[in-house]
Amino acid sequence: MPDPLRKLGGKAVASSEEWEQGRREEVLRLFEERVFGAGPVGRPRRIAFEVKPTEGWMGGSAVRKQVRIRSEGPGGENVVRLLLFVPVSAKERPVPAFLLINNRGSEHMDAAREKRSPFWPAEAIVARGFAAAVFDNADADPDHHDGFRDGVHGVFDPPGERPGHAWGTIAAWAWAASRAMDYLETDHHIDASKAAVVGHSRGGKTALWAGAADRRFALVVSNNSGCTGAAVSRGKGGETIRQINDRFPHWFCENYKAYNDNEYALPVDQHMLIGLIAPRHVYVASATEDLWADPESEFLGLTFASPVYRLYGMDGIAGLPMPTAEQPLHTNGMGYHLRAGGHDMTEYDWQRFMDYAERFLCD
Ligand code: GCU
Repeated sequence: MPDPLRKLGGKAVASSEEWEQGRREEVLRLFEERVFGAGPVGRPRRIAFEVKPTEGWMGGSAVRKQVRIRSEGPGGENVVRLLLFVPVSAKERPVPAFLLINNRGSEHMDAAREKRSPFWPAEAIVARGFAAAVFDNADADPDHHDGFRDGVHGVFDPPGERPGHAWGTIAAWAWAASRAMDYLETDHHIDASKAAVVGHSRGGKTALWAGAADRRFALVVSNNSGCTGAAVSRGKGGETIRQINDRFPHWFCENYKAYNDNEYALPVDQHMLIGLIAPRHVYVASATEDLWADPESEFLGLTFASPVYRLYGMDGIAGLPMPTAEQPLHTNGMGYHLRAGGHDMTEYDWQRFMDYAERFLCD
């Protein structure tokens, strides 16, 4: 397993200063160049937020805000529709927020609350005093391989041949999470210094990359994210790098394909992606029957990231045994739980994320 605390030249990193002043940047660039790809734009020069608030939701306990995030680039305009339910208590004091990168279609984020989904239990999130925010990943980039013409690639990519490190679809979704954060920072009802980004599966891989690249997210939650998410690729069961690149050739950058059946040649592994989140909080959740994602390798992602957390005097989970089902392990810096059942994100998972946030994120 590559050592997060050893620079490419071999020099050891012994303090958080040394991590911050060189090694962190090196690791971030490696993930950009070899795995997710680098985007041509961060916050676009031309970005606008159109907000439509309405009162009286959830029995009067919430305000609904429908936000259109409009980003303009050389290829036209992209609109990400962000939906928020904010507890009315936010009028007295800004509230922390959970932002879900929704990869399961807009039926899981019904603005009218006629159709409720445990995948985004907005009522339960608001009841615990958090703002519930969500956007549909397809707004930023539809999840199919069209040669990177649609979505934000079509809006921002320079013309000509794409380099091997050009951003893939997961990087585009992570970019959209950062644009949602741009909005949250403008909303006086939200405490943007206490915002969590959450994703399930392909969305969980996205949440990790969003949180690694954008240090404004105070908590990163990765549910059942598996291959190229929280799970280390070396020795991983279930899905491999070759399988993910073959089935989803648009998710990562072209350079990542050099590691098909060749994970030991990668200068990084997924624990280093988690390490990039330090000293902010990270939460990984697995499910007992989700062997394609591989719970043990997901837990190892946290274990091997722990030395980076220790540089900041935070506990991490190194040395602690993997917990059994429904025995959450919450330390300062890292949270983990294993849910009994299959590949999914349920209200049980959300309640544990909120337990963690209440304890470590809120005053
Ligand atoms: C597929 C893919 C996984 C991914 C999952 C999902 O199973 O192989 O890598 O996590 O879809 O997004 O649900």
